[in-house]
Order: sequence, then structure tokens, then C-alpha cells
Amino acid sequence: MNLLVLACALAFLSTSYLGCQGTDLSEDSRNKTCIAGEKQVLLDLKKILIDQDKWLESWVGDYCCSWQGIGCDKDGHVTELDVGDCSSKGDSIIPFLVRNLTFLTTLTLSQNNFQGLIPKSIGDLKSLVTLELSFNNLSGPLPESFCRLSKLEKLDVGDNQLSGTIPKCIGQLSTLKWLDLFQNSWEGVLSEQQLVNLTSLTFLSISSKSKLVYHVSSEWIPPFQLQGFTIENMRVGPEFPPWLLTQEELLLLKMSNSSLVGTIPADWFGNLLSHAVHVDLSYNDISMARPSFISAPNNLSTLRLSNNRLSDEFPAYICNFSSLTALLLSDNNFTGELPRCLGNLTQLEELDVMDNHLSGHVPDVFGSLERLSYLNFYNNSFEGKLPLSFQNLTQLLIFDVGNNNFRDALPTWTSQQIPYLTYIGLRANHFYGTIPIQLCNFSSIQIINLARNHITGNIPQCFNNLTAMTTNETGIRYYFGDTLVGGKVLIDDVKGYELKYTSTLDFFYSINLSDNNISGEIPEELMDLRNLLNLNLAGNNLVGKIPARIGKIEQLEFLDLSRNKLSGPIPQSLSELKFLVRLNLSFNDLSGRIPTGNQLQTLDNLSSIYAGNNQLCGRPILKLCSGDAKPHEGHDYEKDNSDNDSDSDEHVWFYAGIGPGLLVGFLGFCSSLHYMKSWRHSYFNFVEMVLDKIAVFIALSWKKFYK
Ligand SMILES: *[C@@H]1O[C@H](CO)[C@@H](O)[C@H](O)[C@H]1NC(C)=O
Ligand SMILES: *[C@@H]1O[C@H](CO)[C@@H](O)[C@H](O)[C@H]1NC(C)=O
Ligand SMILES: *[C@@H]1O[C@H](CO)[C@@H](O)[C@H](O)[C@H]1NC(C)=O
Ligand SMILES: *[C@@H]1O[C@H](CO)[C@@H](O)[C@H](O)[C@H]1NC(C)=O
Ligand SMILES: *[C@@H]1O[C@H](CO)[C@@H](O)[C@H](O)[C@H]1NC(C)=O
Ligand SMILES: *[C@@H]1O[C@H](CO)[C@@H](O)[C@H](O)[C@H]1NC(C)=O
Ligand SMILES: *[C@@H]1O[C@H](CO)[C@@H](O)[C@H](O)[C@H]1NC(C)=O
Ligand SMILES: *[C@@H]1O[C@H](CO)[C@@H](O)[C@H](O)[C@H]1NC(C)=O
Ligand SMILES: *[C@@H]1O[C@H](CO)[C@@H](O)[C@H](O)[C@H]1NC(C)=O
Ligand SMILES: *[C@@H]1O[C@H](CO)[C@@H](O)[C@H](O)[C@H]1NC(C)=O
Ligand SMILES: *[C@@H]1O[C@H](CO)[C@@H](O)[C@H](O)[C@H]1NC(C)=O
Ligand SMILES: *[C@@H]1O[C@H](CO)[C@@H](O)[C@H](O)[C@H]1NC(C)=O
Repeated sequence: MNLLVLACALAFLSTSYLGCQGTDLSEDSRNKTCIAGEKQVLLDLKKILIDQDKWLESWVGDYCCSWQGIGCDKDGHVTELDVGDCSSKGDSIIPFLVRNLTFLTTLTLSQNNFQGLIPKSIGDLKSLVTLELSFNNLSGPLPESFCRLSKLEKLDVGDNQLSGTIPKCIGQLSTLKWLDLFQNSWEGVLSEQQLVNLTSLTFLSISSKSKLVYHVSSEWIPPFQLQGFTIENMRVGPEFPPWLLTQEELLLLKMSNSSLVGTIPADWFGNLLSHAVHVDLSYNDISMARPSFISAPNNLSTLRLSNNRLSDEFPAYICNFSSLTALLLSDNNFTGELPRCLGNLTQLEELDVMDNHLSGHVPDVFGSLERLSYLNFYNNSFEGKLPLSFQNLTQLLIFDVGNNNFRDALPTWTSQQIPYLTYIGLRANHFYGTIPIQLCNFSSIQIINLARNHITGNIPQCFNNLTAMTTNETGIRYYFGDTLVGGKVLIDDVKGYELKYTSTLDFFYSINLSDNNISGEIPEELMDLRNLLNLNLAGNNLVGKIPARIGKIEQLEFLDLSRNKLSGPIPQSLSELKFLVRLNLSFNDLSGRIPTGNQLQTLDNLSSIYAGNNQLCGRPILKLCSGDAKPHEGHDYEKDNSDNDSDSDEHVWFYAGIGPGLLVGFLGFCSSLHYMKSWRHSYFNFVEMVLDKIAVFIALSWKKFYK
């Protein structure tokens, strides 16, 4: 079932990869011409769509019923119109469509940047069964005329700017199965009034960026059986809503940031969630310690309880949730050791216990977690050696054990063992020894963070073997955002990142070896890492010159070589780094004239960059080089103390790939799935959907990696 995650993740991405698209519709439509007036409307529509992928090219000629995304009835009336992700030029479009395409049963206009109001006349499309308008920029209220659409089964207006109250009359739409009101600016009250007659509802998703008040009576017994329920950023608690217990078919439950307080009721996992596949109760005040479980949820794939107040020992009963693929428990207050029974979770792909108070040795039980790709132990108090079985994690992409008390030689894993490793975070532990040359063979690696350990020896001369960092080919790297649900990764401690990189690691490349005891020279080979954004070698014992080719690290934005014993001149090529925003060369033995020009002129704290190098001269430190004319003034910039460590504790969070947005995506019931092919035919059938997406996944992967 974990494929559902995958599926939805990909569906989420698919919108951006497949571009403008629609569905190839029924056979009956072939070789048929539609009503001339309706064809004209389609051609008008075509004009305002941006057809990057040439998908609308089929919209020519007479047989408009067989154009992609179009379906007709036997009289030639257009009944299905499905165009998604075409990014219209920001028009308000719906009025002219609804005036003229009155036979529509399916209208899908998701992700097209349509603006403005939803016209009242939408209520005239009496045959509509499916209406998907999500991911546009529609504003204003949801017109009450909707409620005249008595055949409507799917209403998806998620991710727009709609405002006002949720019309009570929605409650009349007894055929409605799918109601997605996610991420709009609703106001007023959400109560059982709006839901009372929705006897067919299976999926409900709602959240508001504005002040929508949840007010559902605790005695309410809903007339429906939901399979998916998503509510977010609304005050639902402190009580866990009792009406949910009447729902016996839930597959997806997301109640994130919903002010739930206290213990998860004992019967939740036993009954309510006994079929559940995805559960997200993150960002609440849940402190549940040990609920009594009648039985473990059999099919639970994702369990996200991050950002709560869970305390005491790591809950061993979770080891009984044998189908878990993602276990996300970061930002809680767990203490004690990780239990050995974790080794029972053989399906696990993501394990995140970051920011807890776990301690002790990590049990050596990871050999059985063959699928683990994301392991985040950051900021706990683990000690001792890394378990040997880590090297058996052949699917590992992201590995972060930073900010613990591990005391071990640097791991000598090979790329044969862990071929896809993309992120290795060992910072702030007690790792010792030299950097193993095996590290160089990890061709996918984008981020190496070994800062603040006790590493000795030289920087190996083989770093130019880190192919992901040297290649200028895009699209051949392993792209790891795809399947992650957790996906939070700590990256370095360099000021400035936080603002810049919030959504993806795709183009993030970094090496941080700072604050160790590394000696020797800066190897020339590092200069081949053209993709590096961050190179931090500060606080070591490096000697020799800064390589003259430093300007070849084209993408470099952050360079810190401070607090070493580097000597000789600062290479002029530094001025070729056109993206450089932060530079620190202070407290070395550099000499000669400071290079100038280009980006070097624009940096902040110009003087502190070069502080503590007594033999430097020229601008901006105002110490004359021999042969220079006198400057106008004579400040002494030397006393600048640039060596402030305050930056080093800044945590910069990255959201790998889709990150939290993914959860919004899939637990928002993949609100973006609207136009996956054949989706509409099976959108109440999860299993079919999953099977469907496997094929799509493969197609997408190819498209993405080898395009
Ligand atoms: C109808 O379509 C089929 C194939 O889709 C084609 O072989 C045939 O020639 C078409 N007939 C007409 C009248 O265009
Ligand atoms: C659309 O409908 C309006 C009024 O119903 C009509 O005036 C207009 O000509 C129609 N547009 C096309 C392209 O048929
Ligand atoms: C969405 O619409 C608002 C006005 O309603 C506009 O200010 C904003 O720029 C639009 N956003 C996009 C992405 O077009
Ligand atoms: C629900 O259905 C009942 C009976 O059909 C009707 O009287 C009532 O007005 C409906 N409520 C809403 C909110 O539509
Ligand atoms: C939680 O929801 C509130 C509104 O109810 C919002 O202001 C806040 O930013 C949300 N917090 C998170 C972490 O999303
Ligand atoms: C778990 O999933 C399988 C296959 O989808 C299904 O047959 C089974 O009934 C599910 N079990 C529960 C408890 O929902
Ligand atoms: C796991 O489940 C079994 C029975 O299904 C139960 O006996 C055992 O106590 C459970 N383990 C934990 C740690 O809850
Ligand atoms: C882990 O699996 C073993 C054997 O499969 C079983 O004996 C043990 O009870 C399981 N542990 C837990 C906590 O479920
Ligand atoms: C975490 O647990 C410790 C002791 O177990 C307690 O002192 C502390 O207040 C807890 N912190 C939170 C945020 O609950
Ligand atoms: C790692 O895997 C190998 C073979 O796949 C196995 O022999 C070995 O015991 C495993 N090591 C650990 C620590 O699980
Ligand atoms: C670097 O890569 C080449 C070929 O890819 C390989 O032959 C060589 O052994 C690697 N060097 C190191 C030190 O890993
Ligand atoms: C890099 O880009 C240049 C030109 O942009 C191209 O000639 C070269 O083949 C590319 N690939 C590599 C690996 O350098």
C-alpha cells in the first residue's frame, strides 16, 4: 500500500512534469464532429492556454470529439472537457465555457492559473458529475448556484483563493462523493449543517487560510462513511472528534495542526484506524503514551505524529504495525533507547526521530530494513558506534545522524553497498579518523556534512569522483524528492540558505568539513566540483595555497576557509564566482593584494572577510600594498572579530522534494490527482488507483531522468 504514497507523490509531481494534458476519452467520440458552436468555444479556449508540451496540437480539424481531453455524446455535444496544467494566461474563463457547453458532465480545469470569480451560471451545467477547479487562482465565494448541480459527485475547488462561507446548501448534494475544499480562505463556520445530507460522501478535505471555525456537535452521527478525511490548520480539538469513531472505512486520516490535546483514544487504532493506510496527526498536542491496542492496524503505511508532545520510551507497540513504510516521529519528547523490535518493520522506507531525546546505542537491527531510504536521527543523544547493519541499507538516500554523541571511525561504506546515497550528515558528533576514499565513489552524493567532529588527515584527492557534483548534465542524477514523505533534512549552518532553498534539494550541493582537525592542502580536485553551492572548510589545519582554479566552482554561493593556516595570495579567480554571497577567509596567513572585481565588491562585511591575515593589503582593508597611493582615511579594520560562531548553530531546514507539501498532497487525498489518466473512472477505488500509478510512476521516472 505504500505505493499509494508513491503514487500520490508522483501524481503531485506529474502536474509539473507532464505539463498541459488531458485524458484520452471514450472510443465513441472518434471520427465525430461536435456541434459547431461548441467547437468554436473549444478553439477560443485553446487560445488562452499555454500549450508547452504541444498537447493541444490535436485540437485541429473537424473531428473535435476526438480531440484530446474532449468527449461528446451521440448528438455531438461536448460532454467532457479535461484540460489540466496548461497555465492559462491568467484569464477568467469559466463564463464563456458554461454559457456554451451546457451538456458537460465533466469539467476539469485544474492547475491553469484561472483568475476571478466562479460564475453563478455554473449552476446551469445541470448534467455536471465532475467539477475540478483546483490549483487555480479563483477568488470570491463559492456561488450557491452550485447546489443546483444535483448530479454532482465530485467537487474539487482545493487550492484556490476562494473566500466567504461554505454554503449550507452544499448539504443538499446528496450525490456528492468527493468534496475537496482544501486550502482556501473560508470564513464562518463548518458545522454538521453543511454535511447533514451528504449520504454518499467518501472523501472530505477542508482547510482554511482564514478564520473558518470548526463547530461540529460531539453527538453528531454522520450519514456517510468516509474513506478519506483531511482537516488542517483549524481548531478541531482539544477533544478528538467523537463523530469520527462512526467512520469504519477510513483509509486516510489527516488532522494536522488541529489543536488535538492529550491521549489518542484507545479505540482509535483498534477501530477507527483498523483499515487506515495513512495517518497524520502532526502538529498537535498529543501526549499519548501507551494506548491499549485491540489489534494493530494491518495496512498502516504512513504514521506521522511529528511535532507533538509524545514522551517516555519509544513506543514498542509500533513495531507491530508491520506494514509501515513511513514512521515520522520528529519533534517529540521521546527518551530512552530505540527498541530492537524496529527490525520487525521490514517495509520501512522512512524513519524520522529527529529532535527527540533518544539515547543509548542504536540497536544493530537495520539489516532487515532493506527498503529504508530516509533515516533521520538528527539531534538526539545517541552514543557509541554506528550499527554495522547500516551498511546493508542498500536503498539509502538520506542519512542524517548529526548532533548526537556517536563515537566511531568515519564509516567506510562503499557505493556498492549504498549506491544511491545522496545526503550524508554526521555533523556534531565524535567521529574520528581520516575521510575514507570510499566516499569519493558515491556518484549520487550531493551533500556531505562532517562538520564538528574529530576528523584528521588530509582531504582525499578523489573528490572529483563525486559525479553528481561535477556533472553539468541535468536529469541523470538520482532525484530523491520523489518518494519521500518525511523529507525534512538539515542542511549546514550557513546563513542565507533558509530563505533561498525551501522546497527542494534537487540543486543543492554542499560539502562541510568545518571544525575538525583536517590537515594538508586543499586538493586541486575540489575545484572540479562545479555544482557546489557551499564549501566550508573552516576551523581546520589546512596549509598551502588556495587553489588558483577556485573560480571554477561556478555555482559557489558560500565559501568559508577561515581559521586555517592557508598562505600565499588570494587567487584572482575568486572574482569569477558570480553567485558568491558569502565569503570568509579570515584568520589564515594569506598575503598579497586582495583581488577585486565583480561579485567580490558586493559582499557584506567586506573587512571581516579578510581579518586576521596580517600580510594582506589593498581594498577593502585599507592597508596599503607597496606602490599604492594613499587612501583617504586610515581605519584599522584588523580588530574585526569575524570569527563569531553564532551562525554555526543556525539550523536551516530543507524540505526534500515535496516534503510536508507532499502530505498535504496525498493526505489532502492527492488533491492534485484530478487528471491522472483514468482517475475519474476509479477515483473511489484506491486499489485500482494504486495499480494505475505504478505504470505512471515508471513513465514519469523515465521522463524525468532521461528527458
Ligand atoms: C475513423 O477512424 C479510424 C481510425 O480511428 C480510421 O481508420 C477511419 O478512416 C476513420 N473514418 C473516417 C470516416 O474518418
Ligand atoms: C455562446 O453563447 C452565447 C449566448 O448563449 C452566444 O451569443 C455565442 O455566440 C456563443 N458562442 C459561440 C462560440 O457559439
Ligand atoms: C491571483 O490573483 C490575485 C488577485 O486576485 C493576484 O494578485 C495574484 O497575483 C494572482 N496570483 C497568480 C499566481 O497569478
Ligand atoms: C436535508 O434533507 C432533508 C430531507 O430531505 C431536508 O428537509 C433538509 O432541508 C436538508 N438539509 C439541507 C441542509 O439541505
Ligand atoms: C496552524 O494553524 C494556525 C491557524 O489555525 C496557523 O496560524 C499556523 O501557522 C499553523 N501552524 C503550522 C505549523 O502550520
Ligand atoms: C488491507 O489491504 C488488503 C489489500 O488491499 C485488503 O484486502 C485488506 O482487507 C486490508 N485490511 C484491512 C484490515 O483493512
Ligand atoms: C504485538 O502484537 C501481539 C499480538 O498481536 C501482542 O501480543 C504484543 O504484545 C504486541 N506487541 C507490542 C509491543 O505491543
Ligand atoms: C518481532 O518479530 C518477532 C519474530 O517475528 C516476534 O517474536 C516479536 O514479538 C516481534 N516484536 C514485536 C515487538 O512485535
Ligand atoms: C520532555 O520530557 C522531560 C522529562 O521527561 C520534561 O522535563 C520536559 O518538560 C518535556 N518537554 C516537553 C516539551 O514536553
Ligand atoms: C548484511 O547483509 C549481508 C548479506 O546481505 C549479511 O550477510 C550480513 O549479515 C548483513 N549484516 C548485517 C549487520 O545485517
Ligand atoms: C575514481 O573514479 C574512477 C573511475 O570512475 C575509478 O577508476 C577510480 O578508482 C576512482 N578513484 C577513487 C579514489 O575512488
Ligand atoms: C557541459 O557543457 C558543455 C557546454 O555547455 C558541453 O560541451 C559538455 O559536453 C557538457 N558536459 C560535460 C560533462 O562537460
